[in-house]
Amino acid sequence: MDLLLIADEQVSMIEKYLYRGEMFALQDDDLKALCVVTQEEPGVYELKNIATVPKYQRKGFGQHLIAYLVDHYKGVGKELYVGTGDNPDILHFYEKCGFRRSHIVKNFFVDNYDHPIYENGQQLVDMVYLKQSL
Ligand SMILES: CC(C)(COP(=O)(O)OP(=O)(O)OC[C@H]1O[C@@H](n2cnc3c(N)ncnc32)[C@H](O)[C@@H]1OP(=O)(O)O)[C@@H](O)C(=O)NCCC(=O)NCCS
Repeated sequence: MDLLLIADEQVSMIEKYLYRGEMFALQDDDLKALCVVTQEEPGVYELKNIATVPKYQRKGFGQHLIAYLVDHYKGVGKELYVGTGDNPDILHFYEKCGFRRSHIVKNFFVDNYDHPIYENGQQLVDMVYLKQSL
């Protein structure tokens, strides 16, 4: 949960997808990165949370985990979505991992969280969705 909270800071929001999703952990001698994927409808999957242990960030583990997911769901699914706040660094990470912008859910962070969420001093308001074909 400590690691999941880095990517999504409200436990009640994590619990909405944690128990119906599949969790993947990238680990060798040590845990490197973690993510949760849900099925939203037949053939449509969504990456709900991904976090790399802070001391291992920017070493390729997040990208490697997403490449594994795409390979894992290929054949059973047709699309993989991910939603995130409008944060240029995170959007760049997902684009580097093969996602392309899809649509926006207006006011998602304001309507669904019990407190304002800030990243890099900027309040998150809308959810930006990206997707890639499987
Ligand atoms: C986002 C996150 C999962 C990326 O994981 P990571 O293992 O550090 O990412 P990688 O090392 O695989 O990065 C691959 C590429 O994505 C891009 N990238 C990754 N993190 C980035 C950042 N903070 N800013 C800009 N580009 C970034 C870079 O192009 C990077 O390649 P490079 O290091 O050769 O330039 C990680 O930073 C993290 O856990 N952040 C906190 C939780 C979070 O915000 N999760 C997403 C919520 S929607």
